[in-house]
Order: sequence, then C-alpha cells, then structure tokens
Amino acid sequence: MNDPHQTKLTTGCIAAVLPAAGSGQRFGSDRNKLFAMLGGKPIWFHAASRLAARPEVGRIMMAISEGDEADFRGPFAELVNELGIELVRGGDQRSDSVRAGLDAIANDKSIEFIAIHDAARPLVCDADLAAVFAKVAETGAAILAAPVTATLKRQLDDGNASLTVDRSELYTALTPQVFRVDVLRCGYDRHRGRPATDDAQLVERTGYRVALVHGSADNIKITHPEDLRIAEAILAR
Ligand code: CTP
Ligand code: MG
Repeated sequence: MNDPHQTKLTTGCIAAVLPAAGSGQRFGSDRNKLFAMLGGKPIWFHAASRLAARPEVGRIMMAISEGDEADFRGPFAELVNELGIELVRGGDQRSDSVRAGLDAIANDKSIEFIAIHDAARPLVCDADLAAVFAKVAETGAAILAAPVTATLKRQLDDGNASLTVDRSELYTALTPQVFRVDVLRCGYDRHRGRPATDDAQLVERTGYRVALVHGSADNIKITHPEDLRIAEAILAR
C-alpha cells in the first residue's frame, strides 16, 4: 500500500544540506581536508555541484566552521557563488552542523525535503541521487547504502574465540540521507545530544521507518589521505 504522504517531486522542492564544518583530523593536513584538490577542484565543490545538477534541488546550504569562513568567503567565493551555495555556521558536532542547515530553511514553504550529504563525499553519482530522491517521495525517509562486502567476525569472550556474522542484511550507510522536512525536524527536536552516528538514526528513534536505497560503493567519504588517491582513480575512470 502506498504511504498516505506520497508526494510528487517538484522542481526545487529539496534543500541540500552539506555538513562541512569538521576539521579533518584523520586526514592530517594543516587545513580542512575539504579544501584538498580532486581533479582541479576542492572536494566540497564536487559534492555540492553533483547535488546542484539535480532539478529537484532548490537550495544548497553548506555548514562551515568559523575558522574556514575566510576561505569560503575569500578565495573560494567564486566557486561558492557559482553553485548558489548559502553558507551557514556549523557546530562542534556534525549533528549541530546539520541542525544549522535545518534552521536556515525553517520558514521556506517551498522546501518539502532535506537531503543531507557529507561535503566529504565528492563522488555521489546522478543515478543514485535520482533513486534516493524517488524513494523519499514515496516513504518520507530514505538513505543511500551499500551492501557490506567484507567477511565480518564477532569477537567472543576475551578474543580467543570468534563467530562469522551473516552479512546478507548488512549495509554501510552512505549519504545523501533524505527526509521529509517534518520527519527530520521531529528527529532533531527529540535529539538531546545522545550520540548518533548519522541523521537516519535520529529519525529511527522517533519510530519513523527509514528506507535503504542501494547506492554505489564508489560514493566514498574522504577520511584518510589514501581515500583521495582512490577518489582520483574513480574520477579518472
Ligand atoms: N562535519 C561538520 N561538523 C562537524 C563535524 C563534521 O559539518 N562538527 C562534517 C565534515 O566536514 C564532513 C562530514 O561532516 O564533511 C563528515 O565528517 P568526517 O568525515 O568525520 O569529517 P571531519 O570531522 O572533518 O574529519 P575527522 O573526523 O577526521 O576530524
Ligand atoms: Mg568527524
């Protein structure tokens, strides 16, 4: 049976929120990893431009740290303006950064959905965006996810014993994670700082069902320096 909330996606009905306010500790460079270049453009620009290319995306909010503001408003201002990105001030936790984007669209009646996409995922493909957008129109909450391919073990006792875990139902969560505005807002309104690893978990806690959409494993998050080399190879393909 169809969800009673099933909606048609209209042009510009999705706001993209890109958390970009981290510091890239694990990447280990002297500035935010998102400024690292990939195919001649900074990582964040790839992530934002892929969302900007979708007709459903009407606004792009990027949450940035105080320390990066001079870069985004200075040397990178032209690229920011090229995509019509609105800069908002992020926070200490990723969820604070997402909330800043959510607050920025609070009074915008034209926005029905929010797509949260890590600025550190420069390689999301158009087909995956189309698929997760189509799903959220049906269900109100949908995320990209890739099937786990590794063989998984559960450590037992002191580590002298282990068991193989059935991976057939296991997925790695990716972004975008896309929600109807009221669904995400409910998750964030109830969020009292209890640790959550992604936005979908905040929504799950409200009891709302989050649909998984199979996405390409190429949609990697740049975390360590070697991820950038892998991204370069994928981009060159
Ligand atoms: N992010 C954010 N606000 C924070 C922390 C993270 O907007 N307070 C963003 C990052 O900029 C990144 C995305 O969330 O685009 C995913 O986070 P992660 O890959 O962990 O990036 P960093 O937190 O910057 O890296 P690290 O954890 O290695 O320091
Ligand atoms: Mg982090």
